[in-house]
Amino acid sequence: MADPLLHVLLVESDKEVLHVVPPVLRSIASVRATADAAEAARVAAHNRFEILVISSAIANATGVELVHAVRTTQPCAQVLVLCDQDTSEVSPALIAQEIGDTLVKPFDLGVLPARIQRLAEVMRQQLESADQMQKLMARISHTEIMARLGTLVATVAHDIANPLTTILSNGNLVADIAANDGDLGPDNRETLRDSARDTTAAATAIKAYVDRLVAYARGDRDELAFSSSLADVVRTSLLLVRPRAQAKSVMVHAERAELAPRVSHRPVAITEALVNALSNAIDAVPPRGNVWLRWETSPDQVALVVEDDGPGLTAEQRQRFFEPFYTTKVAGTGLGTVVIQRTFKEHDGQVELKTRDTGTGLSLRMVLPRK
Ligand SMILES: Nc1ncnc2c1ncn2[C@@H]1O[C@H](COP(=O)(O)OP(=O)(O)O)[C@@H](O)[C@H]1O
Ligand SMILES: [Mg+2]
Repeated sequence: MADPLLHVLLVESDKEVLHVVPPVLRSIASVRATADAAEAARVAAHNRFEILVISSAIANATGVELVHAVRTTQPCAQVLVLCDQDTSEVSPALIAQEIGDTLVKPFDLGVLPARIQRLAEVMRQQLESADQMQKLMARISHTEIMARLGTLVATVAHDIANPLTTILSNGNLVADIAANDGDLGPDNRETLRDSARDTTAAATAIKAYVDRLVAYARGDRDELAFSSSLADVVRTSLLLVRPRAQAKSVMVHAERAELAPRVSHRPVAITEALVNALSNAIDAVPPRGNVWLRWETSPDQVALVVEDDGPGLTAEQRQRFFEPFYTTKVAGTGLGTVVIQRTFKEHDGQVELKTRDTGTGLSLRMVLPRK
């Protein structure tokens, strides 16, 4: 099968070359010939050319722009430079544009069709590998998205499984009681009351979880920041992590909340971040381990510091610490550190990770600027 006709843009100040080249290429290409670089740029902007043939003199003056113009319509368009004396005339700026071929004048016109066809083949190969690369990238990102989605779905399913089980078993319990004819005794009445309470608590937990996921997906930040003491944040956070610490007999050593410094902050967001940091520390330490919460102040910033005497981070954990959905826990979400980092970034602060001064355990320093 014959090749489809190529489109060649010939830009050459030498009248003779301009005159003799088009007929030589007639059987394989349609040639647009001009001696005017500005006209060539205009033509290139509106027509597709696979090959640009350009004299070195014009090439070194406006060649780079011309190559760009030609490649806006055909990204893999090839360039052939016609040199007056030798190929060292071609400027580095032009070589950097990936010149496909050069010919030194006077050249045998008979070689031109074969050289042009070879450039067309180079272009086809580039187009093919660009296409393959694009397909590969699409496949990789699709695989990655599916992997993340899979992790997210598994995580969400896991996190709502416990409260769902509570709701289901309470439903069965209530159904059993309802199926019994006769009066409700005081025992049944108490069971019903407990069931209602547990069901509400479980449903509330699921709702809060889903709200958090949605807020994370939306990147919400509608709470207003105001300057006040961090005392409430500290008190609330300690209260929220107490059950987690007690379950493992972990000691949480905290500075006195009423001494906490003032700084501009969004209390709900900072509380959520601090709860995540404390929970991670509690998770990391062995039973009866230690977690510390303290703060550092300077004229221009306030830092909340959470430390633990757990194992600290492996190289991989450190590298992937802030990666969404990265978790080493069976029931982890991998979103805690994302919340921490996002929250402090939104406050124009930052989060710093280091090993505790004693050499073991993690020290997480969450910095808020004093504006
Ligand atoms: N204080 C810590 N000590 C050791 N590893 C930690 C600590 N905090 C976080 N990590 C590591 O970072 C991972 C991500 O934490 P996070 O985003 O909160 O997700 P999750 O707690 O659900 O695993 C954890 O699974 C753990 O491997
Ligand atoms: Mg966590």
